[in-house]
Amino acid sequence: MHEEGDQLIGRSPAIRELREEMQYAARSDAKILVTGESGVGKEVLARLIHKQSSRSRGQLVTINCAGLPDSLLESELFGHVRGSFTGAYRDKAGLLETANNSTIFMDEVGEMSLRMQALLLRFMESGEIQRVGAERAQARVDVRVIAATNRNLSERIASKDFREDLYYRLNVIHLTMPPLRERREDVPELLEHFITYYSARHSQAVPKLAPEALSQLVGYSWPGNVRELKNFVERLVLRARSGIITPADLPMEIIPPPRAAIREPVRGAAVDRMYERLVNGRELFWPVVYEPFMSRDMTRDDLRALISRGLEQTRGSYRLLVQLFNMPEADYKRFLNFLRKHDCQMPFQRFRNLSARLDADAVDESALVMNERRRADA
Ligand SMILES: Nc1ncnc2c1ncn2[C@@H]1O[C@H](COP(=O)(O)OP(=O)(O)OP(=O)(O)O)[C@@H](O)[C@H]1O
Ligand SMILES: [Mg+2]
Repeated sequence: MHEEGDQLIGRSPAIRELREEMQYAARSDAKILVTGESGVGKEVLARLIHKQSSRSRGQLVTINCAGLPDSLLESELFGHVRGSFTGAYRDKAGLLETANNSTIFMDEVGEMSLRMQALLLRFMESGEIQRVGAERAQARVDVRVIAATNRNLSERIASKDFREDLYYRLNVIHLTMPPLRERREDVPELLEHFITYYSARHSQAVPKLAPEALSQLVGYSWPGNVRELKNFVERLVLRARSGIITPADLPMEIIPPPRAAIREPVRGAAVDRMYERLVNGRELFWPVVYEPFMSRDMTRDDLRALISRGLEQTRGSYRLLVQLFNMPEADYKRFLNFLRKHDCQMPFQRFRNLSARLDADAVDESALVMNERRRADA
């Protein structure tokens, strides 16, 4: 099994192109700037370039430039001499010295203060290291720098938060990793890869993704990119009880919000009243709906409209619908049989592919209802 982070999974055109660019980047010794949102795989790129390069005998040294106060970052990078600050009991080499003849990966370089940027620029121009507290430079090192950022550096330059001269130093080869939502073709392969990986790691049987679940996962926007997908898969593997993962096993945030276009344009007032009795009045489905339907006081279309409305609420889940209509879980089969028998079972898929608009509508609507109630009360 591959170790974590030593493979660039994906077959989208963007990833294929990056693989090629990585190859020529590995052959040269030029500085590289990698940009892309958080969790897209910038460190994976850096690691692979280092491994394919002539420096691969050395360890890739990594440092995250965000979140460290200047003084600490400076001593981490350049080292310090004994007595240069409280707690500096002995001389210590910095990471740039450790990375001599190898590669350093500087993550979140866009977060560096202007002072640290000046120090880094000086190092990049001379290759000289001056430890904190030292009188003069004590070593010249040969380090390849790969820097990464999820910031838009042009904007940082415009706002004078990032030095333009440092930008041009770092940006000899520029690699951009697009967010996962712009290369959805990679999602199935990433899912498969991490499902296999985590099943092995947790000694579990490898679960299979049902096609419907897969298509929802491909449709999801993955704001946290591959890192989010990876963590999601680990939880999924740990929770998987049966061998197959269905949409019902997916968390709510993965399920797309409702799309306005699929709503029933007209709903009878009778249906509205029934829905109200079920959902707000917490009355039972069987006397409120089933009985009038069986005695033909309610039409098929009405029943379909009621079910659709419930499914909008539960995003297509019949199990949740059973709860919403106040039936015990044990009634699930009876409920579905009843709908099927009268040709009122709506395909749940259409309630899964819903857009944010309906959510916004729903909020507007409930605000309207509240206002109307207030007016009525007054
Ligand atoms: N294409 C890929 N194939 C396999 N694993 C990947 C891929 N892209 C990312 N990963 C994995 O996803 C996680 C996040 O990737 P990485 O740390 O490289 O992101 P990053 O861009 O450096 O994020 P940040 O900006 O937050 O530091 C890592 O565990 C990495 O191994
Ligand atoms: Mg990173």
